[in-house]
Amino acid sequence: MKTPRRKFLTSTLVGGTALGASVLLPNGLDLTLLGQQEKAAPAAKPAEQKSAGQKPADQKPTAQKNDDTPNEDDVSANEDLMREHGVLNRILLIYDEANRRIQIKEKFDLEIVGKAAGMITRFIEDYHEKLEEKHIFPRFEQARTLTDLTINLRAQHAMGRRVTERIAASAKSKDLVQMSAGLIAFIRMYRPHEAREDTVLFPALHKLVSPHEYDAMGEEFEKIERKTFGGDGFDMAVDQVTELEKQFGIYDISQFTPES
Ligand SMILES: [Fe+2]
Ligand SMILES: [Fe+2]
Repeated sequence: MKTPRRKFLTSTLVGGTALGASVLLPNGLDLTLLGQQEKAAPAAKPAEQKSAGQKPADQKPTAQKNDDTPNEDDVSANEDLMREHGVLNRILLIYDEANRRIQIKEKFDLEIVGKAAGMITRFIEDYHEKLEEKHIFPRFEQARTLTDLTINLRAQHAMGRRVTERIAASAKSKDLVQMSAGLIAFIRMYRPHEAREDTVLFPALHKLVSPHEYDAMGEEFEKIERKTFGGDGFDMAVDQVTELEKQFGIYDISQFTPES
């Protein structure tokens, strides 16, 4: 894969505001923005607006220019899918914490769960899972490999959408019993789901496709991502889940370290 990914992104402007955290802040996250960026022209993001650790778009390694030397912006098909699972995992952490607070009867902003469910719909169900259903599962189905697994994964995608609808509805109706049941069901299904994809399905892809085809898949995924989100949907999703974590008080990961 030779097309730099980050240069498309990270700073599509919406209403004069950088997409991502700053769009999300004033009235709560407008996660409907994710997936509706096709009409917005991608623009270069100023270096000072980038998240810590991200390389500004105009600082590309020179090795990218004329040869096949890998650079940090090359994202393979599997890495692409796996890091999207990272976003999914961060949403599962929000779900986990919401359910914990329900169990101990601690009040919290139910809207955060509604917004997290919106991210699941737009980034996971309508994007990530569509990639799997159109570009990953069919290769295994045609090769008659891991057939039972892909059948189950497809069924879980379908059921996940139903559970997400219930979670979103519970956030609107403020039905904590329904919300808790939905969160528990979703977390219970998706942890094994993504773990099986990461450790079994995706690694096996290398046995089905040539290195050339694998590279082409990475390129194709990037084009789809750019078309879907008008930029780097992954970076946008990371910004958005980060903002939700901050609003929910679970962003500082040191709170998860045992004291002894
Ligand atoms: Fe999946
Ligand atoms: Fe997946």
